[in-house]
Amino acid sequence: MGGKGYALWLFIIEILVHFSTSRSAKVPSIIVFGDSSVDSGNNNFIPTIARSNFEPYGRDFFNGNPTGRFSNGRIAPDFISEAFGIKQSVPAYLDPAYNISDFASGVCFASAGTGFDNATARVADVIPLWKEIEYYKEYQKKLRAHLGDEKANEIIREALYLVSIGTNDFLENYYTLPERRCEFPIVQQYEDFLLGLAESFFKEIYGLGARKISLTGLPPMGCLPLERATNILEYHNCVEEYNNLALEFNGKLGWLVTKLNKDLPGLQLVDANAYDIILQIVKHPSRFGFEVADTGCCGTGRFEMGFLCDPKFTCEDANKYVFWDAFHPSEKTSQIVSSHLIEKYLAKFR
Ligand SMILES: *[C@@H]1O[C@H](CO)[C@@H](O)[C@H](O)[C@H]1NC(C)=O
Ligand SMILES: *[C@@H]1O[C@H](CO)[C@@H](O)[C@H](O)[C@H]1NC(C)=O
Repeated sequence: MGGKGYALWLFIIEILVHFSTSRSAKVPSIIVFGDSSVDSGNNNFIPTIARSNFEPYGRDFFNGNPTGRFSNGRIAPDFISEAFGIKQSVPAYLDPAYNISDFASGVCFASAGTGFDNATARVADVIPLWKEIEYYKEYQKKLRAHLGDEKANEIIREALYLVSIGTNDFLENYYTLPERRCEFPIVQQYEDFLLGLAESFFKEIYGLGARKISLTGLPPMGCLPLERATNILEYHNCVEEYNNLALEFNGKLGWLVTKLNKDLPGLQLVDANAYDIILQIVKHPSRFGFEVADTGCCGTGRFEMGFLCDPKFTCEDANKYVFWDAFHPSEKTSQIVSSHLIEKYLAKFR
């Protein structure tokens, strides 16, 4: 065989090898970073009031178990994990009931109340995003010790990373406390500050080996029952200012996703935006089988969440409600949103 033929032959083998490995590269694990939209109970194990490991939370979860998920049942990462044929729920890293054997097929580092901004995590003393990464590094060590480098590295590389965060930076922090508003008098300046933090975060987990990553930014925040509750002059309609802000910030996250995919070889970062589907559900609840979209199931539905949710004052059937509490979707909403995100953005990883 001449030199050219040999090179061609090598080239063909390389293509075949690449093709077969990329085809067999299924997702072995779901790894989660973010806030209460994806926290499966880490806050139970830190001193904070941002918790939900008591009734009525979890009443529709397996065994009616209040796990610390801000939901009556499962949340999006659980549904995504199940749809990828892994497990029915993704356990919280800090939960001592689980060990590294369990975490090898899925683990959650998220913390309710956190944000991109360190100052956001300080509001309710929850886990800042940098610390979620520290836990992830510790997890990698344990995984390598447990499975050996080769198998552990494969899981780290082929896992699907779900990142859902940002709402608290605006609602809990920027619009509630003076610190950041003094520093960034125009909200677009704060958006750009957060965007820089987001970029560093993705570069860091990429550097640690993450490749398949889904980013879900802001929901239509102005339609959260808690925000509608304060919109008295507009008859408790959605707060348009917050929805527009969410659209604007999500747009910037979209640019960031495009840029990072260009800059970082092998990265497959997807902009799994949930804004539109959630807005559809809120505006046309009956099309999705819901009866109530403006208030949550627990209490008056306008302001209760966490310890303010009283099992004695909770709606009978959470499936009729888009929102479970004043800030978080019901299990049924999470299921619809997850199916949508899988079909539209995540199917290519299956
Ligand atoms: C994890 O826990 C299970 C049972 O709870 C046990 O069988 C297994 O050996 C543990 N794995 C490690 C690595 O500790
Ligand atoms: C957030 O806090 C961590 C730990 O103190 C620090 O390393 C990091 O630089 C902080 N980030 C910003 C943007 O201040």
